[in-house]
This record gives sequence, C-alpha cells and structure tokens, in this order.
Amino acid sequence: MPVVTRDWLNKLPKVELHLHLEGSLEPELMFSLARRNHIELPFATVEQIRRAYRFSNLQDFLDIYYQGANVLQEEQDFYDLTWAYLEKCRQQNVIHVEPFFDPQTHTERGISLATVINGISRALTDGESRLGITSKLIMCFLRHLSEASACDILAQSKPFRDRIIGVGLDSSEQGNPPEKFSRVFAKARELGLLTVAHAGEEGPAEYIWTAINDLKVSRIDHGVRAMDDPKLMAYLVATRMPLTVCPLSNIKLHVFDDMSQHNILDMLAQGVCVTVNSDDPAYFGGYMTDNFVALAQAFDMGKDQARQLVRNSIEASFADESRKRTMRALLV
Ligand code: ADE
Ligand code: ZN
Repeated sequence: MPVVTRDWLNKLPKVELHLHLEGSLEPELMFSLARRNHIELPFATVEQIRRAYRFSNLQDFLDIYYQGANVLQEEQDFYDLTWAYLEKCRQQNVIHVEPFFDPQTHTERGISLATVINGISRALTDGESRLGITSKLIMCFLRHLSEASACDILAQSKPFRDRIIGVGLDSSEQGNPPEKFSRVFAKARELGLLTVAHAGEEGPAEYIWTAINDLKVSRIDHGVRAMDDPKLMAYLVATRMPLTVCPLSNIKLHVFDDMSQHNILDMLAQGVCVTVNSDDPAYFGGYMTDNFVALAQAFDMGKDQARQLVRNSIEASFADESRKRTMRALLV
C-alpha cells in the first residue's frame, strides 16, 4: 500500500505547468467533434482509438496526436477541448494551470490563429470565473518545422499578445536542437514573452544546456536526461531551474522502462526543482492525480514529498506573487 492514498492526493491542491491542450482530447470528444464537423475518423469506436494508443517512442505518439487534432475546426471546438480539461482539473483539485497549445498544427490546416486563441482563452476566462482555476497560456512552436515558420506564427500572434504569457518548443526533439530557434526566441523575449522548451525528454542533456543558454528559458519541459550530466545537475540545483516532469508520459513513450526506474524523486532529493505534470493525459492514461498516484505506487512517496512537488510547481509558475502566496497557504 502506498504511504499516501489516492483520495489524499486528489484533495491535495495541485498546479499543472506542462499540459498540451491537444493532448487532453479524449476519444469521446474526438468522436463528437468529428461528427459535428463531418470528419471521417480512421477508427470505428472509442475502444479502437484507445487500443491504438500504444507507442514505442515520441514520434510514434506524435503521428497519432497530430491526426487526432484534425477534428478541431471551429472556435467552439477549442473552447470545448479547453473546458473539458478544466473540468478534469476541478475534479482533481488542480487550482492553477499553464497549458500549451500548438498553433502551427492548426494554421497549417487552414484554421486561423484567432479561431484557436479565442476558443481557448474564452474557456480559460470562464475557468477562472466559474471554477476558480487561474491560468497562463503558452504558445509552442513545432520544432520539426522551420524557424521561419515559427517567426511567422510569432508575428501573427502579436494582436493576441495579452492572452499569451510565453512561448515554448515541442514536437520531435532528436535532430531539432533548441539552438535552431535562437532567433525566434530572442524576438519573443523582445516582445516581453517568457520562454520554456522541451529538452532532455528523448534528446541529450546537451539540449538542456542550449535551451538554457541560447533560448534563455525560465523552465525546462521534461529534462529527465539531466541526470546524465553531473555539471548540469549541479547547475539545476544551484539555480533552482525548474523541470516540468511528466511521469506517466515518460513510461508510455519508453523514456524509462518502468515507473520504478523513474528519476523524479531522486532529483527531488538532490534539490532539483522538479514538478509533476500530465503532458498529454488523454493519450498517456491519466491526469494530475493519476501521475501522483503512479509515483506513490512505484515509490514509498510520503505526504512531505508530494507537498514539496506542489510547492516546486508554485515556485516555478508564472502566476503573480499574490496568487503564489494564496496557493502556498492552501498547502497545509
Ligand atoms: N507534443 C505533445 N506532447 C509532447 C511531448 N511529450 N514531447 C514533445 N512534444 C510534444
Ligand atoms: Zn510535452
């Protein structure tokens, strides 16, 4: 039996800093949007979709994930997607979220950036007023595309500057190092946007260094390969550079063979600012509570460790100081 129960972990107030909205598209919603938008899916049933969610690596997953996003067409679809995620947050006591969206996945299909951002941000506004869940939205560039394409999206996003706190970098990591995007990240910083980047998920620790040095990120998404490099570990501890770790994702994508091999609690013990997140919960088998429960089952995680993981998320978040103070006070 784990030291902490699912019920305790579910009640624990939580903060999510690494969540792809497109990765929260549950098969049921995928089907209903496909019907609404007259789109043919290559699956006949929800069960068939779930059975297809067996991945051998990141690329394997991304191929299915981009295909699933095709059902998102209208502003209301993006609203419904975001609202469904916020409902999960309410059920699992997630009180603050900083979700990602991938604009190029949609603009490349002829969907306007306004359609995407208006739908998402309307749901986030309702999430705060109706559910009390605060949020900051992060726009990710797809790293398998060119830097010119990222620059184009950044330029298109200027009218929506007030809706976005920062930019990120996701998609196929290996062979697409952070420095490929140095100039567009510099432009984003000039616009006052904060920066984060996926690094050290499948790619080497070197990519974490270049995300820090070239892209000047405030957080590293994943970063679990940092343990390959003792100098990097010392740097992360000394600077409290946060890592947004996604335990269930790492198992589903075979970054680790088994949860018992995961290094998050080891890094926590060494003083790294690690946090727990769900990444693409509709594809990886669980939301925030499920990720905490998976850690509790694999390790004898105690209440103090769980609370410290949430405290790290609050420290690493882009919420203002007064919101951070309120959230910290909820962690009894
Ligand atoms: N896009 C959605 N999920 C991702 C992940 N885990 N890594 C890289 N890109 C992603
Ligand atoms: Zn991710």
